[in-house]
Amino acid sequence: MEVKTSLLDNMIGVGDMVLLEPLSEDSFLENLKNRFDHNEIYTYIGSVVISMNPYRSLPIYTPDKVEEYRNRNFYELSPHIYALADEAYRSLRDQDKDQCILITGESGAGKTEASKLVMSYVAAVCGKGQEVNKVKEQLLQSNPVLEAFGNAKTVRNDNSSRFGKYMDIEFDFKGDPLGGVISNYLLEKSRVVKQPRGERNFHIFYQLLSGASDDTLKKLKLHRDFSKYNYLSLDSAAVNGLDDAANFRTVRNAMQIVGFMEDEMQSVLELVAAVLKLGNIEFKPESRCNGTDESRIKDKNDLKEMCELLGIEQSVLERAFSYRTVEAKLEKVSTTLNVAQAYYARDALAKNLYSRLFSWLVTRINESIKAQTKTRHKVMGVLDIYGFEIFEDNSFEQFIINYCNEKLQQIFIELTLREEQEEYVREGIEWTNIEYFNNAVICDLIENNQNGILAMLDEECLRPGTVTDETFLDKLNTVCAEHQHFESRLSKNSKFLTDHSLPHSCFRIQHYAGKVLYRAEGFVDKNNDLLYRDLSQAMYKATHSLIKQLFPEGNPAKVNLKRPPTAGFQFRASVSTLMKNLQTKNPNYIRCIKPNDKKASHIFTESLVCHQARYLGLMENVRVRRAGYAFRQAYEPCLERYKMLCKRTWPHWRGPARQGVEVLMDDLQVPTDEFSYGRSKIFIRNPRTLFFLEDRRKQCLQDLAALIQKIYRGWKCRTHFLLLKKSQIVVSAWYRRYAQQKKYKKIKSATTVVQSYARGWQARKLLRELKYQKRCKEAVTTIAAYWHGTQVRREYRKFFRAHAGKKIYDFTIQRIMQKYFLGLKSDMPSMSPIDKKWPARPYRFLDGAHRELQRIFHLWRCKKYRSQFTEEMKAVYEEKLEASEIFKDKKALYPSSVNQPFKGDYLEIGKNPKYQKLNSAVDEKVLLADVVNKINRANGKGAARIFLLTKKSVVLADQKTGQVKASVPLPDLASVSVSTQTDGFFALKLKAGSASAIKGDFLLSSEHLIEIITKLHRTGATAADQEQLNIDISDEFLVQFKQDKVCVKFIQGAPKNGNSASCRRKNNRLLEVMVPSTA
Ligand SMILES: Nc1ncnc2c1ncn2[C@@H]1O[C@H](COP(=O)(O)OP(=O)(O)OP(=O)(O)O)[C@@H](O)[C@H]1O
Ligand SMILES: [Mg+2]
Repeated sequence: MEVKTSLLDNMIGVGDMVLLEPLSEDSFLENLKNRFDHNEIYTYIGSVVISMNPYRSLPIYTPDKVEEYRNRNFYELSPHIYALADEAYRSLRDQDKDQCILITGESGAGKTEASKLVMSYVAAVCGKGQEVNKVKEQLLQSNPVLEAFGNAKTVRNDNSSRFGKYMDIEFDFKGDPLGGVISNYLLEKSRVVKQPRGERNFHIFYQLLSGASDDTLKKLKLHRDFSKYNYLSLDSAAVNGLDDAANFRTVRNAMQIVGFMEDEMQSVLELVAAVLKLGNIEFKPESRCNGTDESRIKDKNDLKEMCELLGIEQSVLERAFSYRTVEAKLEKVSTTLNVAQAYYARDALAKNLYSRLFSWLVTRINESIKAQTKTRHKVMGVLDIYGFEIFEDNSFEQFIINYCNEKLQQIFIELTLREEQEEYVREGIEWTNIEYFNNAVICDLIENNQNGILAMLDEECLRPGTVTDETFLDKLNTVCAEHQHFESRLSKNSKFLTDHSLPHSCFRIQHYAGKVLYRAEGFVDKNNDLLYRDLSQAMYKATHSLIKQLFPEGNPAKVNLKRPPTAGFQFRASVSTLMKNLQTKNPNYIRCIKPNDKKASHIFTESLVCHQARYLGLMENVRVRRAGYAFRQAYEPCLERYKMLCKRTWPHWRGPARQGVEVLMDDLQVPTDEFSYGRSKIFIRNPRTLFFLEDRRKQCLQDLAALIQKIYRGWKCRTHFLLLKKSQIVVSAWYRRYAQQKKYKKIKSATTVVQSYARGWQARKLLRELKYQKRCKEAVTTIAAYWHGTQVRREYRKFFRAHAGKKIYDFTIQRIMQKYFLGLKSDMPSMSPIDKKWPARPYRFLDGAHRELQRIFHLWRCKKYRSQFTEEMKAVYEEKLEASEIFKDKKALYPSSVNQPFKGDYLEIGKNPKYQKLNSAVDEKVLLADVVNKINRANGKGAARIFLLTKKSVVLADQKTGQVKASVPLPDLASVSVSTQTDGFFALKLKAGSASAIKGDFLLSSEHLIEIITKLHRTGATAADQEQLNIDISDEFLVQFKQDKVCVKFIQGAPKNGNSASCRRKNNRLLEVMVPSTA
């Protein structure tokens, strides 16, 4: 829950002077002092904020404080400048009222600080966003720039504003800042060339020399030494607590943020440097032949450097310092300047240069910060003008400054005191008049068009003839002598004749804030503000673009012989515009008070504060406030605002607004002494009554909001419900349609099914019937046909032969067979048994017979073929057949032997006489005689032997001698082993234990191996007493050599001696035969 606070909570003294009891000057000061001692520097008089300068930083401007005061009622929290800023901002944002913050007080009272606090508060609470933040930043950063160029240390204030500033901050309808416009008022330019004792020139000069880099200074032809420049006062160049170097960086940074270009900043610094250089130009007199003195520049170095900086031809400027040209109508007179005139010209140029640069800066800043949109703006003006000041030596500037403060006091009086009292009278409210000092009379003394001081000064300046400050003072003495606020030693008013505090060359004005003695010296010059035309023309000739821009009147094409308006005139006009502007806005006052003259914290000089409180009219302010009413409002807006607090006025009141308000106040039972009814306004005496109304309104607004919310929610729910209902109807309609459609389709398909079944059933029934009828018909026809057949056969039998069909069939078959055989005969194949041809069969039923005939024919053909053979041929073929049975597909040598005829006796052993002896040694008929190789058992080499085969034995004889080497009876042969390969090796294995076995088995090789083995096998087969000889075909077999069993192994490979197989004894157990590979 929000905690309700009030200004009255934890109050030190009284926060609002209106509540002071008893009210007297003493209690007023006591209250201020009490609060000041407790660090409460702000106190209210109603809505006016009194601000005491604490001269030290207090922790009351933190972001937390900003949040604390944000959107809070003015009297809700302890007095603060933020409360006023918040009130003004909310009034601007919510009620669309333009505001102005009027900050008054004497020099050093804290006006500039207050204006910055207001601006920073508004910047903190208004809208955010990239664009808005940029605008805010630019507005805030314009302050350091203007302060650097327009503020200076004075005896009263280390950062005294030497110009008046009024800044309009523009907001859009949401309260977001759009931009701003700054107006400046009369810069105290005399400070550029001369500063009173203990004071300084404008900050920027010191900042530039302390803070600029060596490089920049070199470019600007400056030295980091204040003593080198005549225009800089040295005794107070260093100010406590002021870091000029750091401030220079801040200013450069601020200029960048505001939007100054790098070259613009450089130009500005060049001008500042030029002013310093200008101050160093000194003159010496030079006598002329006509006896007059003419000024000459002492040392031209500074002039040269300045001319280089500004791009001015040195001779032009030099001449402008020596001569003065006066143009009058058609005449042009050139006179020489004496030294004093030359110094005057130099200083006038320096002052003009600087003040014009300052005005240019303001214009340039305005360009950057001006609102971009053309929409209607709400405006908050912040006025921070130089404070009322009384120096030892007061001149034209102080006169102007104090005049401005008079005007501000006037507007304060206008708007608060007089206006307030007049309003009570106007409204017919009972009111006892409060006496207050109205300074309108002083304003009139200064600004009156006929006999005002400014008018007199202007008149004097424009008057032909010799015009001096004395003639001006004379004039004042004659015209204003009677005025009660004007005092002069020379006036006819004898009252001051003996007043030694009033020198003859001075006049005194009783300002609202005290008497100020003005020295008349310099008034005329300063008001004229004359810059010799030669100088402005010299400046115009500069190549430096900014300088050229600052002296437009130097353009020879635009020579204006009319005098420019005087400084006083210009100031009066701008102050008048400012006042008119302020009057259109809702004023918010901050009255700054300076607690002491020492710029020290914790010191409260009662007399000083009392003086300020008096001239600021604060007591009158409190009295008027106390006697009057805290708040007033026209009936219409009041009724409009609070009508919801009463049932009778809510929501519409038909009668006049005043009656409505009366009913309202009645209903709310507000005590009658708390308010009064005026003619057009209601006056509420106490702020608390207003808070009561506001609180009730807030509560009521909450209730109304709840009501609106309730109705809206109800409406929203109802609308939603109706929509749902409507939707539900649509959905259900569609669903029903869909469901009915589905149901209908189901019924339809079911009907179709039933229908189809019924139709099918009917159709089948009909079909059955029709089929039955058809069968009946057919049966009838068949029966009739049989019957007819029977009848016909019975009748015709006698006319037909029996079994004619079979006979016809047999005949046909016979005929076909005959044709078949005849065809076969004519198409017989050849008699060759290997001819495979055979004619195709003509009929399928002859399939078996046809194949049988083919087989029979083939057998017959073979028989015929065989019958051609003799007995020998037969024997040969039988042998060949046997060879095939033994070796076919078993030994690779076999295919090559097929077409070799088996000759048997290759040696013609019977006929050859060489073998006669051998032949006779063999009793049996030789079946085979051939030369074979007997393999030597020891080394595998072969030795030729004659191999003879008889019916009974195998004989091996020497090839040369024919001597029998071995004879093995066939029954002793156990088996023959051969390889599977193409070699002719064979082993004759002897039966173990037989007589022949003693020598061991024979390993032989022959070209006719197939024939030898076949014959051996055949001989064994035919002899009845012998067992069939075993033939073992394998690539590895054992041979018995005497005692050893040796393995003979056949290997495919490349034998040494060409294409025939070779044998080699590998070891005791192995005999290797290399057979040439067949591939
Ligand atoms: N609220 C404050 N808190 C702390 N110091 C303050 C405050 N107000 C003023 N000061 C101090 O007082 C000095 C003078 O204040 P400021 O420059 O605002 O006076 P001014 O009224 O503008 O004077 P002038 O009329 O000469 O311009 C400041 O430099 C600052 O040191
Ligand atoms: Mg100031």
